[in-house]
Amino acid sequence: MDKTTTLLCFLFFFTLFLTTSLSKDLCHKDDKKTLLKIQKSLNNPYTIISWDPKEDCCSWVSVECGDATVNRRVTSLDISDDPASGQIPPEVGDLPYLQTLIFRKLPNLTGEIQPTIAKLKYLRFLWLSWNSLTGPVPEFLSQLKSLDYINLSFNKLSGSIPASLSLLPKLEFLELSRNKLTGPIPESFGSFKGKVPDLFLSHNQLSGSIPKSLGNLDFNRIDFSRNKLQGDASLLFGAKKTTFCIDLSRNMFQFDTSKVNISKTVNRLDLNHNGITGSIPVQWTELSLQFFNVSYNRLCGPIPKGGDLQRFDSYEYLHNKCLCGAPLQRCSEDSSNQALSLKFITRIN
Ligand SMILES: *[C@@H]1O[C@H](CO)[C@@H](O)[C@H](O)[C@H]1NC(C)=O
Ligand SMILES: *[C@@H]1O[C@H](CO)[C@@H](O)[C@H](O)[C@H]1NC(C)=O
Ligand SMILES: *[C@@H]1O[C@H](CO)[C@@H](O)[C@H](O)[C@H]1NC(C)=O
Ligand SMILES: *[C@@H]1O[C@H](CO)[C@@H](O)[C@H](O)[C@H]1NC(C)=O
Repeated sequence: MDKTTTLLCFLFFFTLFLTTSLSKDLCHKDDKKTLLKIQKSLNNPYTIISWDPKEDCCSWVSVECGDATVNRRVTSLDISDDPASGQIPPEVGDLPYLQTLIFRKLPNLTGEIQPTIAKLKYLRFLWLSWNSLTGPVPEFLSQLKSLDYINLSFNKLSGSIPASLSLLPKLEFLELSRNKLTGPIPESFGSFKGKVPDLFLSHNQLSGSIPKSLGNLDFNRIDFSRNKLQGDASLLFGAKKTTFCIDLSRNMFQFDTSKVNISKTVNRLDLNHNGITGSIPVQWTELSLQFFNVSYNRLCGPIPKGGDLQRFDSYEYLHNKCLCGAPLQRCSEDSSNQALSLKFITRIN
């Protein structure tokens, strides 16, 4: 080979190298830099140990980039199932096009919900579950107007639920279950700015009664179970609502079911362990129930026959004041007659 051929050869391979490496790297250089800082700040967790600075960050595991409309900026970061320890890296706030942020099942992820998340104005989906996060449910979430999904369940969050969350215009799911939240359900939850989100607030220490304002809400799913809520919850029900799931179990609610009209859309109703009185209305036989539980209350009278009410077994009716009829014991006059004759017998003895 003469010198020209060598040079040409060299040039050919050099340009080939340049074009392939350039076209391959779609990742924005700022995003790559930020991601590498995140990797470092989480002490190289094994799920993302494969992140290689020499490769296109849009091809890294746990990362997704948007299309050309957002200049291929990083839009999703999902780090899950990892023993990584430390706090949520503050650098997450420097991924300005992020729409999805997931830190899930990182049991050694501690500290507060990172305040720099407040910078993520395109964030739609925030899922931080099964970690060991502490501190409050941050007030700043209400500034992130694109949020439609918030799931902070299974952490150690404390303090009360920020009333300002009702200002989020696109919120569809609010899940704060299994934390250590205290205080009341905010009054503002009676008037969400957008449509009414599904509310999952179970397994906390919420107290007080359900604000009257919530009576106007037509929601799909509510789970307030296992809190310390009290008072009248009958305001949540209504024949004209489109609710399909209500779980109020294990609280201290007290109301009379005889006056409660339940929407025919309801298919899951859990009221167990409360102080509910009255009898089961005949109207409830019109419901198509997949799940039903009224055990451990103070209900009385015959269980109406029909619909799905006899499809459940006695465990769903046990420990009430004087419920009777299938699937519990008959409430025929026999029982009262028996009681009478017993009395009579004891008297003549
Ligand atoms: C993670 O937390 C568990 C206890 O919750 C502890 O035993 C373990 O050592 C921690 N691991 C790291 C890497 O910090
Ligand atoms: C929130 O996350 C928990 C834990 O991963 C999950 O079980 C639950 O279904 C999620 N809630 C919603 C509304 O998606
Ligand atoms: C419940 O609904 C029935 C018919 O759907 C109606 O006649 C009754 O007045 C309602 N009761 C209450 C307390 O709203
Ligand atoms: C209904 O609640 C009671 C009391 O908590 C419980 O023992 C029973 O298993 C529940 N039934 C169902 C189907 O979950």
